[in-house]
Amino acid sequence: MWPKSRLSALLGLDYPILSAPMANVSTPALAAAVSNAGGLGALACGRLTIGEFEKAVADMRRLSNRSLNVNFFAHLPPVPDATRERRMRELLDPYYDELGRTQVEILTAAPPFDSTMLEAVLRAGPTVVSFHFGLPDALSVAALKNSGIRVLSSATTVAEAKILEQAGADAIIAQGFEAGGHRGTFGQSLDGGGVGTLALVPQIVDAVSVPVIAAGGIADGRGIAAALALGASGVQIGTAFIPTPESGAHPIYKATVMATKGDQTRITSAFSGRPARLIANRYINEMAKFERGLPDFPLPLALTQPLAAAAISRASTDFAMMFAGQGAALARGLPAGALVERLVEETEAIVGRSATRRHGPGKVARAPKRRTPRTGKVRKRPAPRRSH
Ligand SMILES: Cc1cc2nc3c(=O)[nH]c(=O)nc-3n(C[C@H](O)[C@H](O)[C@H](O)COP(=O)(O)O)c2cc1C
Repeated sequence: MWPKSRLSALLGLDYPILSAPMANVSTPALAAAVSNAGGLGALACGRLTIGEFEKAVADMRRLSNRSLNVNFFAHLPPVPDATRERRMRELLDPYYDELGRTQVEILTAAPPFDSTMLEAVLRAGPTVVSFHFGLPDALSVAALKNSGIRVLSSATTVAEAKILEQAGADAIIAQGFEAGGHRGTFGQSLDGGGVGTLALVPQIVDAVSVPVIAAGGIADGRGIAAALALGASGVQIGTAFIPTPESGAHPIYKATVMATKGDQTRITSAFSGRPARLIANRYINEMAKFERGLPDFPLPLALTQPLAAAAISRASTDFAMMFAGQGAALARGLPAGALVERLVEETEAIVGRSATRRHGPGKVARAPKRRTPRTGKVRKRPAPRRSH
């Protein structure tokens, strides 16, 4: 009794459930488990070299012959700035001292999606390529689409969704403010895009004609049923997959996600130079006053990643980089395939239940429009009465 979805048809899925691409978390095993269960598994490839990308795809394909989504960042290349770099190094000096480490001498970063990676992706031929922070140039998008690959990207506002549709996106991920990880915001100042999933999804559904995928705070069948009721054709779920056994997250990170309450995540730019939602910790709290004016994304990662790794190797989360969304408390730690099965059952129970009540299984009928008896015009429903 799973509702038909334009997205399932477009991407050849049994269920329109996508696991989010998550840097350092979404392993080939996780992607394969989700795809084998009938959803769409993803690999976060934004920080991989060509060799690492090819290996990750090959590893996934050894475990699954089903659909795959490979994900890249479409940001502008960072412009080095000696003043901002010096300031960030000074801010981090005491933390490095505390952990007995020394800072790297040169800030390096993985390049945004480029023509070399495009060639590698065309050779690999995944079902889907998804982007964060917009889309790459028109020629790259055309090359992907012409080879039969579906192109997706995230929008955090209606304006961004329209830009993506115009640029050829086959479906749009409506990323609400609850979402874990980097805000996909690209269309305006990076401070924008703070719209919650419940408000964002229907507005984007109304504004574009391509299928919309809801993301942010969805972790169980209730969330999926709600997203479908808002007009989404599918969902993309990240945080709920972090504690799965197949995920690449450190055990401390997994345990912290399971213990995190809805009000314990924060949006911060302090790790990467771009706003992202993570589990609050000492570093995020202490950097709150200083996180503006850091080097361009993703250069700060060259300084924060070693700090995060050093802390977590000492079993401390003080400087750990624990991307997660407001739905963290709903995560269950099931194996990924079992989680997809559970999500399907839970959604069917809700969607089936409401359909069954009025119209029997398998049919979801719209309530008939009320017409005024004499004119036949559609009558406005009376405003609900206020109780106070
Ligand atoms: C740990 C983590 C890493 C993420 N990394 C990426 C990424 O590399 N690329 C991307 O497009 N989105 C990334 N995201 C964002 C997801 O695509 C998605 O918007 C988000 O997970 C949905 O919200 P949820 O976490 O509440 O389910 C990441 C999210 C998390 C939690």
